[in-house]
Amino acid sequence: MKHYFILFLVCLLPCMHIHAKQTVIKVSTHELDLVFKTAPNGRLYQVYFGEKLLHEEEIEALPHYLSHVASDGSVCPRGWEVYPGSGAEDFFEPAFAIQHNDGNMTSILYYQSHEIRKIDTNVTETVIKMADDKYPVEVTLFYVSFARENVIKSWTEIKHKEKKPVDISLYASSMLYFQSSSYYLNEYSGDWAKEAQLSTQELVFGKKIIDTKLGSRAAMHAYPFFQLGLGEPAKEDQGKVLLGTIGWTGNFRFTFEVDNVNNLRVLSGINPYASTYQLKPAEIFKTPEFIYTLSHTGVGKASRNLHDWARNYQLKDGKGERLTLLNNWEATGYDFDQDILAGLMHEAKELGVDMFLLDDGWFGNKHPRLSDNAALGDWEVMRSKLPGGIPALVNAAKDAGVKFGIWVEPEMISPKSELFEKHPEWAIMLPNRETYYYRSQLVLDMSNPEVQEYAFGVLDKMMTENPDIAYFKWDCNSPVTNIYSPYLKEKQNHLYIDHVRGVYNLLDRFTTKYPGVAMMMCSGGGARCDYEGLKYYTEFWCSDNTDPIDRLYIQWNFSQFFPIKSMAAHVTGWNKDASVKFRTDVAMMCKFGFDISMEEMSREEQQYCIEAVASYNRLKKIILDGDFYRLVSPYEGNHTAVMHVSDSKEKAVLFTYDIHPLYKEKVLPVKLQGLEPMKRYRIQEINLMPGQKSTLPEDGMVYSGDYLMKIGLDALTANRIHSRMIEVTAL
Ligand code: DGJ
Repeated sequence: MKHYFILFLVCLLPCMHIHAKQTVIKVSTHELDLVFKTAPNGRLYQVYFGEKLLHEEEIEALPHYLSHVASDGSVCPRGWEVYPGSGAEDFFEPAFAIQHNDGNMTSILYYQSHEIRKIDTNVTETVIKMADDKYPVEVTLFYVSFARENVIKSWTEIKHKEKKPVDISLYASSMLYFQSSSYYLNEYSGDWAKEAQLSTQELVFGKKIIDTKLGSRAAMHAYPFFQLGLGEPAKEDQGKVLLGTIGWTGNFRFTFEVDNVNNLRVLSGINPYASTYQLKPAEIFKTPEFIYTLSHTGVGKASRNLHDWARNYQLKDGKGERLTLLNNWEATGYDFDQDILAGLMHEAKELGVDMFLLDDGWFGNKHPRLSDNAALGDWEVMRSKLPGGIPALVNAAKDAGVKFGIWVEPEMISPKSELFEKHPEWAIMLPNRETYYYRSQLVLDMSNPEVQEYAFGVLDKMMTENPDIAYFKWDCNSPVTNIYSPYLKEKQNHLYIDHVRGVYNLLDRFTTKYPGVAMMMCSGGGARCDYEGLKYYTEFWCSDNTDPIDRLYIQWNFSQFFPIKSMAAHVTGWNKDASVKFRTDVAMMCKFGFDISMEEMSREEQQYCIEAVASYNRLKKIILDGDFYRLVSPYEGNHTAVMHVSDSKEKAVLFTYDIHPLYKEKVLPVKLQGLEPMKRYRIQEINLMPGQKSTLPEDGMVYSGDYLMKIGLDALTANRIHSRMIEVTAL
């Protein structure tokens, strides 16, 4: 033991001796510090990530080696290298792997310089330049920290000056290290209509990988975000937890590796599967951004960090208004004509929503889109159904007094389409194997600039001819199948990456030319739910599953990462065991809309919906832009509750839901959060069916914020599938 201790000191002392000379780089927010430090070997190490450190001199003195004694008694100086390459003393997962022109597969990166740029009072960018000492390879690490939101985003740029292209086979966006007694991962998995289902596991020695190989979207079976509980499973209101997400609308990979001394490394980035990238001299390979926040008071706080950050910096029109809408997909499917749509537009007006949204099935003539097996790519209005074309629909919407939005799926092609007859080489499809069709369609090869041009042309023409289109629902129903790009020829390993980059080119071009058009990101339900997508879209469709009970879980889980404003939720005819009120209350906690004909409702229900829209309009600033609190988890019982609180804490909206209470179940009060303890608030249940009186015991009463947060409201009941919407107003 003594022997080990002396060896440990021998290792540590020289490092301590030369601290002063070493470079310390601090990436900070109001509450967090991420600290890097160079070592005598010239390499850069993560020396700290956690709650803000208060004393500069102690930050300077942080040790850069996490030395440990190996079984043979020697001290291993393996540290937390900030961006480990391959072939050095670290035997665990590297961030970077390259094959140089001479065939050598190692890389060791040395610190070169760094720059800290204050972008404004809230945002700081830290750029760290690293280089290999034996090969002309440069890696630049970017960290942008957002002080108020306690969010950091990081990405990496790789370039080289070797004579010929090099192959890079690992290119993480970033790497983080943790040292804790235990690690618990919350991951989200699912499928169509089962989006973002939560599961928790303890991470023990070895690797846990979350990745996808879907090509055209990040998610479906696995989701591009996670929670990491440090020392205990992630909890809503206490404990240390990391929330992370990758901004990439394609194959992603998170690797969590617990090593031999129970340290954890977390790598994030594009999934390198089938994607060894051939990088030309001087070309820059830019990774997607890894976006994260660390909370020391539980997930709720971390979610609010991300929500604020997304609204301030990432989500398209994050501070702007949102359009309530009536969509026709659930109401009509493919079975509609101009009159049916005109009728729905009038219903939209009667409901009081802002817009009518026409879904799939409006296009294709030679191969009409009567079901999902034809016409993608032929974006001409189906004359038999809609003889007046889009202009007639836009006018009908105008006559009805609502805006007009339309569904498109610009990245796809049906094998039964004129486009495919003309350009089979534009589809991602194998030349020498049987074709596998997902939803009877193929994915357009967006790595091909000609295809990007075509897709832009389609959207541009629609907008030029119909400048009053206010909204696009942009769908993406198929993952990439039959992985082969006729355009990329022998560079097939670029397909997954260049396809996504092609989609971004298209989105960049379109949203730059038409910045005022709102857009919903949709992918066969909620399979596109990534932070890079948020840049282009005002909202995303959480799931085709609109059963309000399933939705409570799906929305609960998406809300961990995404601001409420970005989560579209519609009232539909799914699960008629749930009342229209329950279905509406579930949709109203998000970005609200309808996908149901009013004809499916009684007069009383219609009246209720009209009043619900009016209440939503009155309160939407708080619901969409307020602080969001998850109060009662549906995973912990038969009820759930959430609330939204305005910035000023003057107003709050509480939603409570009883799902399937048990006989004689003891129902606990709901303790509110986020209020001002000294303020007094009036409680009022709203959104009741016409003529119905509130049975909330505290209805109409006044309480302090302190009381509401410590004692709470008796808002939950023992009734099955029952809900309440409660307005909380400061006096
Ligand atoms: C999948 C979407 O999730 C649905 O809402 C609907 O738009 C269909 N596609 C249309 O094909």
